[in-house]
Amino acid sequence: MLIHNIQSTIGNTPLIDLPIPITNGNHIFAKLEMFNPGGSIKDRLGEYMLQDADNRGLLTDQSTIIEPTAGNTGIGVALAAQARHLPVILVVPAKFSQEKQTLMQALGAKIINTPSDDGIRGAIAKAVELAQSIPDSFIPMQFNNPANPETYYRTLAPELIRDLDGRKVAAFVAGAGSGGTFAGIARFLKEQDPTTTTVVVEPEAPSSMADPRTPTAPKALGWSSSPHFSKRYRRTGRSPLPMTMRLRKSATSRPTRASLPAAPAARPWRLAQSRSNVTRR
Ligand SMILES: Cc1ncc(COP(=O)(O)O)c(C=O)c1O
Repeated sequence: MLIHNIQSTIGNTPLIDLPIPITNGNHIFAKLEMFNPGGSIKDRLGEYMLQDADNRGLLTDQSTIIEPTAGNTGIGVALAAQARHLPVILVVPAKFSQEKQTLMQALGAKIINTPSDDGIRGAIAKAVELAQSIPDSFIPMQFNNPANPETYYRTLAPELIRDLDGRKVAAFVAGAGSGGTFAGIARFLKEQDPTTTTVVVEPEAPSSMADPRTPTAPKALGWSSSPHFSKRYRRTGRSPLPMTMRLRKSATSRPTRASLPAAPAARPWRLAQSRSNVTRR
C-alpha cells in the first residue's frame, strides 16, 4: 500500500470479535485504536481538531500550536502539527510518562513541564499563559473543544456501525479521560438505536496526574471526564473490570432489528472559538 502522508493511516482501525464464549450467544467487540500511527485513539483527535481550526480560519502558516496534555493527545496533536509544518508546544505535568514525552519530542514538539502536584489544571494554566505571550498561537484545548466529541461522532462511531454490519448494539463501554470519546460515540449510537446502553468507566484510584480537587480522577487516562461532554455522566464507584465483565451478558448480538436509520446530516459548528479558546471557559 503506497501512502503519501501518515494522516491517511489514522482511523479505520480493526474491530475484533473477541473469542470469548458467552452463553447467550452474544459477542464482545473491541476497537483496536492502538493501530493508529501514534499508537492511540488520540491521533484522530489531533488531526480533527487542527482540521477544524483550519477550516474555521483559526490557523495561519505562522501559527504555534499549544496544548496541555497528559500524553496521548500530545502525540496526536504533534502528528497533526508536523503534517502542517507548524511548531507545537505541549505542556505536560512533569511526572507523566517519559516514554510519551520522548515520542512527542521525536515528532518535533517542544515540551514544557509543569509541577506534577498541579495536575492537568496546572498544565492548562501554563498553556494559557504561554498563548498570551506567543503571537498567532492556538490552543486546541481538548477539554472543552466541541470538535473533541465530534471527532468520534464523525469517525469512529460510523466505523463501528459499518463494521458491525447490522448487528444490534446492546451496550457500549468506553474509558474516559476528557469524556470526548464516550460522548461522541454514545450520541451516535443512541441516535441509531435509543435502546443501546452506554457506559463510561473510570478507575476509582486517585491519580498522581489528576486534578487534586478531583479525588477519583482516572490514573491511566489522565483526567476526570469533562462535564462539557458528558452531562448525564454517572460514576460506577467500582473498579471498571467487574463492570465490564457484567456487561458481557448484554454485549452485542446478531441482528434482531430492522435496518439502521441513516446517520444524521452534519450540523454546523455552534461554539465560536478564539485562538486561545480556553480563556472562554
Ligand atoms: C489511549 C486512550 N484511550 C482513551 C482515552 C479516553 O479519551 P477521552 O479523552 O476521549 O475520554 C484516553 C484519554 O486519555 C487515552 O489516552
